[in-house]
Amino acid sequence: MDRNHVSAATSNHALGYDMTAFDYLASTTDQRLNQLKEFLRFPSVSAQSDHKADIRDCATWLNRHLNDIGLTSKLEETAGNPVVYAEYHADSDAPTVLYYGHYDVQPPEPLDLWTTPPFEPEIRDGYLYARGATDDKGQTFTHIKGLEAVLKSEGRLPVNVKMLIEGEEEVHSANLPGYLKKNKERLKADIAVISDTAQFDKKRPAITFGLRGIAASEITVYGPNRDLHSGSYGGAIANPITVLAQLVAQLHDKNNKVKIPGFYEHVRPVSRKTRQMYETLPFSERTFLREVGAKGLHGEKGFTTYERKWDRPTCEINGITGGYQGEGAKTIIPSFASCKITMRLVPDQDPDDVNRKLAAYLKSICPPSVKLKVDLWGGASAVVVPNDGPWLDAAAAAIKKGFGKKPVFMKEGGSIPVVADLKNLIGVDTLLLGFGQNDDNIHSPNERFRIVDFENGCRTAAALPDELASVSTR
Ligand code: BES
Ligand code: MN
Ligand code: MN
Repeated sequence: MDRNHVSAATSNHALGYDMTAFDYLASTTDQRLNQLKEFLRFPSVSAQSDHKADIRDCATWLNRHLNDIGLTSKLEETAGNPVVYAEYHADSDAPTVLYYGHYDVQPPEPLDLWTTPPFEPEIRDGYLYARGATDDKGQTFTHIKGLEAVLKSEGRLPVNVKMLIEGEEEVHSANLPGYLKKNKERLKADIAVISDTAQFDKKRPAITFGLRGIAASEITVYGPNRDLHSGSYGGAIANPITVLAQLVAQLHDKNNKVKIPGFYEHVRPVSRKTRQMYETLPFSERTFLREVGAKGLHGEKGFTTYERKWDRPTCEINGITGGYQGEGAKTIIPSFASCKITMRLVPDQDPDDVNRKLAAYLKSICPPSVKLKVDLWGGASAVVVPNDGPWLDAAAAAIKKGFGKKPVFMKEGGSIPVVADLKNLIGVDTLLLGFGQNDDNIHSPNERFRIVDFENGCRTAAALPDELASVSTR
């Protein structure tokens, strides 16, 4: 297979088109950035119910945009937020590529830490700042613009396209499996493509071949039926914050292993091959710590930082609350305290099973002086996708064209629930082509997307269909 030819340059003249897809992209930079800003202005926060209308407006805008660039797009209902689903038919013999992205975003809070408001996108110092800039509106948009560039320069796409952009990824994609099952035949594809991850670093683009899974929950400790005067009752009635802190403190042992009985039951050891592969990836403790501003490394004893991030399960407290947190002092024993927990999972751990083990453990160690409520939420399984083969070669070639550099292969500690669902329900493997950076502040104030990464992402996306078209499906 000849990976070095630029087919746009060889075929478009014959069709009466004068430019290559890359030329088209180069001449539309401002337009593309302005369109992305429009997309980013919708506060499509899936975790907050008062944004239901914004979610729908965002999906409606996206649907129109996909129709405008020449795909056939529809807004489709699920049991939750709508899905935007678009298709393009090239040729029954050509491979079918299923693109996935998500148009919902994380809550923008805390708002006062944003330099400019999260839903008023602004370009500064070579970055586009807004909630969703990288995760995942910006990255999804690279593929939309990449396909548009090929259509505009060549008049057609060399692959059949199915594009599924959902609005509930940040809340565990709970309603997506139902949609996938219902539309199983329609969604059949040879390969899936997702850009919702990061590059290895600013010098090295990456293809990700593994993601951790997740199991989420919220626990509440109930004490007295109202806040009590801590002088009148303190010492005689259990304080729910103290009890909650004691429970949380019993989740890990002194080696930072998770103490939930059975937690590691299905966890496979890190293979020698994986260890060797990680040894080829550069790691600087100083840079790693400087980037996040932490004082020292931390983690499960006996494992390297890459193994801790990519191959070992974890248990994290994401938020904890209770009692009085306003100005000045207030002497109370609070009525209740709660915290949010997510556990990152590795292959063979089942989210529901691990959640049930967490609940059983907490109940077993909770003192009888309080009432414990455990709400188990959804989850997602970990995935490992192939890290070699013709699809990977094609993706790597597209990245080489878009970024001018070959990708490294890595894993991610984060989760994208649809990847396991696509494999299990539709039988399709996913290529994870990440265009973000670790310091893009996803899920954090001042989320941003580097303009060069957006540009190189669009170029990669424009080169990708040709590369995928040359992979034989028979
Ligand atoms: N795009 C992220 C996944 C990700 C995170 C990739 C970090 C690369 C680096 C995705 O939108 C995400 O945040 N997923 C959630 C899933 C959860 C809510 C089910 C996550 O990982 O917390
Ligand atoms: Mn994402
Ligand atoms: Mn996210």
